[in-house]
Amino acid sequence: MRADIVVSRSSVSSFKSVEISELSPAKVLAFADERIMRRVVRPGGPERPRDEGKRMASFGKVSGLLLCMISLYSPAPRAAEPVVALAPSGEQAARFPAPNRPVASIVSPLWSSEDSRRSAGETGQVFRLMSIRPGMRVADVGAGSGYYTMALARAVGPKGEVLAQDVVPEYLASLRKRVQKAGFANVRVGLGEMHDPRLPKESLDAAILVHMYHEIAQPYGLLYNLASAMRPGSRIGIVDLDRATENHGTPPEVLRCELAAVGYREISFHRLRGDVGYLAIFDPPVEPPLPSAIVPCRSMR
Ligand SMILES: C[S@@+](CC[C@H](N)C(=O)[O-])C[C@H]1O[C@@H](n2cnc3c(N)ncnc32)[C@H](O)[C@@H]1O
Repeated sequence: MRADIVVSRSSVSSFKSVEISELSPAKVLAFADERIMRRVVRPGGPERPRDEGKRMASFGKVSGLLLCMISLYSPAPRAAEPVVALAPSGEQAARFPAPNRPVASIVSPLWSSEDSRRSAGETGQVFRLMSIRPGMRVADVGAGSGYYTMALARAVGPKGEVLAQDVVPEYLASLRKRVQKAGFANVRVGLGEMHDPRLPKESLDAAILVHMYHEIAQPYGLLYNLASAMRPGSRIGIVDLDRATENHGTPPEVLRCELAAVGYREISFHRLRGDVGYLAIFDPPVEPPLPSAIVPCRSMR
């Protein structure tokens, strides 16, 4: 590929058409330098006196050109690193039963507008009820565009950590940019699988699953594998709407049955103010049943 680089100034000769592949920034500098020198010692007559201002002006023009060229030929910034899982795989998907109810499809990385959720004080209500404090390590399972991740990063502070997890790599790549832009150093993003959040073993003080439970295609597998990431005394909080799973909610009785099937114990249940659904808080099992012993709940609604 060739580039035509033209400087149409009387004080500096025009550049020729050059082969891009032959140019490195160093060569570009040398080439331009040579052109300036040639102008100064041009054969065919003695160097005409030039006033210093003109000389500086031509140098400025060439420097500008050089900057353009250097940026043109500098190696392109490395493509963003892919988002990977934060831990090895747990139990395989095939070992778990499928749910006896519809699973909602993934349609968006955000449940509802952040403005409306802020007006409802959604994160404040959830964090208070879950006793989220500075220094905790909390997973945001199904983080999407990160409405909770950002609030959690502030709530747990620099001594705490947020593990923002999802199954859609593109959502996580955008979230990582959002986190970097906000300057949070206490957030890690991690890719999970439908049946396995791929979070480090016994690492979490709390996990939240917000407006996403109805989209989990393999709830028994996910709950089983999530349990191994929880520390003793930790809590998981599930926020959802009280409506059928195919309508992007989870009826509380369905939620209770599925969590109990994997050994989770309900601690409390709260209707949240501002039409943002309910929060159900569970104690994860220390030792969940073997995957083959998990009995799926009957279809309820
Ligand atoms: C409606 S969005 C909610 C996002 C965010 N929690 C919020 O409250 O705005 C549901 C998210 O759950 C994610 N999701 C669906 N199934 C999942 C699974 N099995 N494990 C982790 N995330 C999942 C989707 O990719 C999506 O980002």
